[in-house]
Amino acid sequence: MGGELNFDEYESRLARPVRVKVPDFQVGDRLRHIIFSSQFTPQLLERIGRVADRIRLLAKSVPGHRFLNNLLPHKRAMLYFTQPSTRTFLSFAAACQILGMACNEVRDPAVSSEAKGESPFDSIRMFSSYFDAIIMRSAIPRFAECCAYMMNDLARTQRRNIPIINAGAGADEHPTQALLDIYTLQRAFKFESVRDSSKWKHFDELRSLYPGLRQGIAGKTFGFCGDIRRGRTARSLVQLLTLYEDITVYFIAPQHPTLALPNDLKERLLSRGMNVREVSSFEEQVDGRPVIEHLDCLYMTRIQREHNSASDENEFKEIDFSRFCLNKDLVSRMRRHAAILHPFPRDAAFGEIPTEIDSDDRAYYFRQARNGMWVRAALLAHVFDVDGAINDYYDDYTRDMQIAPG
Ligand code: NCD
Repeated sequence: MGGELNFDEYESRLARPVRVKVPDFQVGDRLRHIIFSSQFTPQLLERIGRVADRIRLLAKSVPGHRFLNNLLPHKRAMLYFTQPSTRTFLSFAAACQILGMACNEVRDPAVSSEAKGESPFDSIRMFSSYFDAIIMRSAIPRFAECCAYMMNDLARTQRRNIPIINAGAGADEHPTQALLDIYTLQRAFKFESVRDSSKWKHFDELRSLYPGLRQGIAGKTFGFCGDIRRGRTARSLVQLLTLYEDITVYFIAPQHPTLALPNDLKERLLSRGMNVREVSSFEEQVDGRPVIEHLDCLYMTRIQREHNSASDENEFKEIDFSRFCLNKDLVSRMRRHAAILHPFPRDAAFGEIPTEIDSDDRAYYFRQARNGMWVRAALLAHVFDVDGAINDYYDDYTRDMQIAPG
């Protein structure tokens, strides 16, 4: 690693509550830096989801692809990923390509000047000289946020500054994963003829099985299973879910302080009116039925073993982790329309989702990862203000092709 990271300069800004910080990361009603999942409002999530749907349709045809490809050929992105990544990195790279943006990468600080003692803050400022956005993943929790403040300070002195997009910050936040998770849920819970839910040609049929079931994310019951405390994806998504009415969340995790729902997050969720329950297995009875049978969505996570301390290793020997792994029997008892999500990677040795589940209709995780590419393209289109052009082109395109507008 490079030189010391000193956050002193940003300490007072970092200490503010998130809702006070949010205006710092936008210009007018447009997001500029993407740092926290709480920056997204339900309206914005709808808007971005709609643009993502349009991009995915346009990208399939040669003229649509050409149009998208000509939107941002004058912009370049730096993918600065100093923590391992496959999906987030590649889907951002693909999203840039869809919009015609060039991108470049630094993935190993040992081959950059950080090996000579350069501060990562200097690296970021240097990238801003060459690129028009920095998409960054770091093990250091508040680093992306500080980089956004650094860019805002540069803007104040009329120096070059560019958007910062947090692609995973320590155990803290992963806002664009939450965005793609919500996009996946929007599609799954439409229960209409879009591809993700085309199996439900007759929503009424489904409703006769599950009276009270309605379209959309509101009113749904979620399960988050596995490594809740260290998983930044669960933390970011569950906070976004508080934006929707009448959400129940079961946290299904070992009652160990390294893994269980942390108190600060629990308090935050409760204070926003979410119905939060902590259980220790899928089989725990709630209102006369096991938890697994209540869920509209099950968000599985892997146990992040690479972060175990020596005492964790010891104490984890006492935990029966098989209780936090899915199997065919459990899946067969889930609601017919339920969506099984996982941010991936899954841990093949641990087996939280065995591959035998992959062919079940309820397994959404591969579609979820692909959704990441479309929704990240839509997010970049929002940040660079070309989403309006996409909507206009799409309207003309669907009129010409006589496709029912979506
Ligand atoms: C996750 C991450 O890096 O937070 N992966 C991802 O971005 N899809 C989850 C993990 O590493 O377990």
